[in-house]
Order: sequence, then C-alpha cells, then structure tokens
Amino acid sequence: MPELVVALDYPESEQAVAMAARLQGSCPWVKVGLELYTAAGPDILRRLKDMGFSVFLDLKFFDIPNTVRGAVRSSVCAGADMVNIHLLGGARMAQAAVQGLQEGCERKGLAAPPVLLGVTVLTSMAQQDLPAGLDLPLDSVVDVLARSGREWGLNGVVCSGYEVESIKKSCGTDYICLTPGIRPAAADDDQRRTMTPQQAVRAGSDYLVVGRPVTGAADPAGAAYSIMESVRQA
Ligand code: C5P
Repeated sequence: MPELVVALDYPESEQAVAMAARLQGSCPWVKVGLELYTAAGPDILRRLKDMGFSVFLDLKFFDIPNTVRGAVRSSVCAGADMVNIHLLGGARMAQAAVQGLQEGCERKGLAAPPVLLGVTVLTSMAQQDLPAGLDLPLDSVVDVLARSGREWGLNGVVCSGYEVESIKKSCGTDYICLTPGIRPAAADDDQRRTMTPQQAVRAGSDYLVVGRPVTGAADPAGAAYSIMESVRQA
C-alpha cells in the first residue's frame, strides 16, 4: 500500500513543527521543501525526526556534478531519509548524486542508504507549459527521463499519477514512483497533472505527496486519515 507524505510548506520552523505535532500518528512521512529548508536549515530535519517522522528532503538539486554530490552528501548527513535531484541534470550529475549518497552513508555509518529520486516533469506543468519549440509529448519526456534515472542508479522518480503505469512497465515495479499533485477534491491552484488518492493508488503510485489539502484543512489529521482510508479502499 502506498505511503502518505505530507508537505510542510511553511515559512518558519515553528509552524512546521506545530503542524507535524497535529499529524503525529496519521502519516509516516513529512516533506521539507525549498520554502521551509531555506528558512529553517538542517535543524528542522532533526526536530521532525525526533518526533518520529521519516523526512523527505525535497530540494530538487540541479547543478554541476561536484556541487550536487556535496549537496546530496550533506542531505544524508543532515538525516534525510529521501532526497531528490532533477533528471534533466544528466548522467554525470545523477551519478555524482549517487556517489554523494554513498559518501554520506559512510560518514554517518548508515547501513541502508536513503532513497534517491529523480524529478521528471513537475506536476504543476501540463503539455502547454513545456517550452515552446519542444515538440515532444509530455509523457514521453517523463518516460525517457525515468528510464535514464534507472540506468544512472536512482531508486525511482517523482512523476504524476498519469505516468506511473508506463514507468513501472519500462523500469520495473520496484522502481519507486512518488506522486505529488494529489487532490482529494477538485482545486483551482498551480497543480496541473492531478489525481485523486484513489486514482493514484490504482495507477500504482508508491508514495502520495499531499500538501495543502491536508495542511489547509480545519482538521489536518482527519484529512490525512480520510486520504489513507480511500487509499485502503482503492
Ligand atoms: O500543496 P500541494 O499538495 O500542491 O503540495 C505538493 C508538494 O509537492 C509541494 O511541496 C511541491 O513543492 C512538491 N512537488 C510537486 N511536484 C513535483 C515535485 C514536488 O508538487 N514534481
């Protein structure tokens, strides 16, 4: 059964920790993204892990290989259980990330490495959001990137639910598909390739990333619970 990852997109650590406290027991994973990490730094990972959460550090690294290698290494040392890079950074960048992961594990004395994922095409993008002139179907861009990630030694990808089935077919069922853009109810926001939790589960997603539908709810733990309830039913 897929696991729920709640995105703690907050401008400061106390708000994130307060939300995490409300979610304790209703989801195993929380996600620290660009907004929170930039404001709070690596200490937020320790605080969330002390509360019992596994932490996905979602900084989507995209830089020269040496810099990404160091950033992934630092992420592992900071306690991230899952990290990610952009697959558009290419083979040498991805392989440097794998190396950084191993170095971080050695430094921390970890037996099992954190999960390393590659971002394919953001779930906030639809076909018409691709740069003009890039005349390729969005799902085939996702597929090419996903297959490359597998070849480069990554554990899986960040994609939308729409691409999971074909990624699992071409990369194997053990290749992780983590899907943001999960919307239990229709929402008019920045996400484009959205699915309900039930649809994502049926598509074969391994992790469902949900932010605002949980953190913006009057009862966040209840919202997380009902997402997982519909996942169980699906
Ligand atoms: O609030 P919402 O459910 O849209 O949050 C989705 C989260 O997942 C955000 O933190 C966003 O940065 C992240 N994300 C995404 N699409 C990706 C990768 C990460 O929406 N491809």
